[in-house]
This record gives sequence, C-alpha cells and structure tokens, in this order.
Amino acid sequence: MITLVGNWKMYKTREEAELFIKALPPFPHVGKVRVLLAAPFTALSTISSLGREKKLWIGAQNIHDAEEGAFTGEISARMVQEAGASFVLLGHSERRHLFGETNSFIARKLKRAIASGLVPILCIGETALERERGETEAVLHKQLTECLLEDHPDLMIAYEPVWAIGTGKTATPEIAESAHAFCREALTGLFGEARAEKIPLLYGGSVKPDNIKALIDQPHIDGALVGGASLDPATFTDIIRNTGVL
Ligand code: 13P
Repeated sequence: MITLVGNWKMYKTREEAELFIKALPPFPHVGKVRVLLAAPFTALSTISSLGREKKLWIGAQNIHDAEEGAFTGEISARMVQEAGASFVLLGHSERRHLFGETNSFIARKLKRAIASGLVPILCIGETALERERGETEAVLHKQLTECLLEDHPDLMIAYEPVWAIGTGKTATPEIAESAHAFCREALTGLFGEARAEKIPLLYGGSVKPDNIKALIDQPHIDGALVGGASLDPATFTDIIRNTGVL
C-alpha cells in the first residue's frame, strides 16, 4: 500500500480547497494507494464530506497538546476532529524551526492526538548543517525516541530532510532510502521488528511527478508527503498516477 499525503501548508481558502477536491478524479483503488490531504483548519469542514466521497482522508497540520484551555490562537484535537480531520501532521520542520516546537512538546501533541482518535503523522528530518556534520542518524534517532512515547496502530512517520523542503533539491532515492532504513531500525528498537515493519515511512521534500516513482521503488519508502506539488490538482494527480499502482 502506497500512502500519498498532500500538505497544503498556509495555502487555499475554503473556496479554493473545494475547487481542488472537485477537480480530482475519484480514486477507486482501495488497497493499493491511499490519498490524504492536510488542509488549513478553515477548509476542513468544507471539504470533509466531499473528500469522503472521493475516498480521501482529510486531516489537520497541527494541534495543541492540551485538551482545551487558555491558549489564544491555538486549536485542539477535538476541534479539528469535529471539523472533519481524521489525521494530523505533527512536528513538521516548519513548526519546529519557525515556531520553536521541541521534541517534548511534539511528544505531548502525539499523546493528545492518540487519546483523541486522530491518526498521527510524525515528521522528522535533519538540517543541511546536521547532515554536513554527519549527525543525520543521531538527529533522527533523537527525534523518533523523544517524540514517540506512545504507539498508534495507524501511526505514520514522514522523513523530510529540511534541506529538501521547498528547495527543489530532492534527496536522491539512495539518500532517502538510507535514512528510511535507519528509521526502520530505530523503530524496531522502540516497538520491535514486527511492528516497525508495518509503520508507513513517507518521504517528503520536493516530491514531484517525475521523481515519485524512483522514491517509492525503494524498499523502505512507503509513500510521500508532498508540499508544493500538492497544490495543483493536475500535478497532484500525476504524482498519484506515476506511482504506477492505479
Ligand atoms: P515541498 O514538497 O514543497 O518541498 O514540501 C515538503 C513538505 O514540507 C511537505 O510537508
């Protein structure tokens, strides 16, 4: 099963989100590929029933770790769920680097997501400097062990090297595969081999229609988290088609 997640980031009004979903063809290939869209909070309720008709999973890009409270400007798991989210991205590098999210905060969010019945997609990845210094595996290991204090049957991990996000510099399939194989090993250490093998490992960072196939052909790459190329329905559909599983 290939998992493709579009992350719209801070793009698309409700109207634009609705037009996007209407422009997507239906994906009647349950069992081979599943398509998820992480939409802005305001668009969730608009697209959730339309998304269901097209067999898409709709989710959020962030939640707060508290159940509720005096946290001006934040949003809770229950709120996004009520609006139609079934999954949530956690620890995206833009959250970590632009908004100062730490592993321990992300671990608490993950706990909240699980308690609320939202499927967590944990994002991890090293910066260019960390890679240059040979620290990639240490960084990934720390992010995984400090964020994953709990498991969830549908948990997914997205490996997104920070240097490949929005830069057009995709990791080569070999570089991505080596990081994914390492993550699988780290997950084996945390949850045991049988469970680690079942956790989908998605690659993110400048995924496009012309590089998706080589990436998902790698043994430990189970799908992709797509930013820029998920904003246009025709390009996103090409990515789905080019997986070759339709
Ligand atoms: P790009 O596909 O635009 O590089 O973004 C990747 C990403 O951050 C997805 O979460």
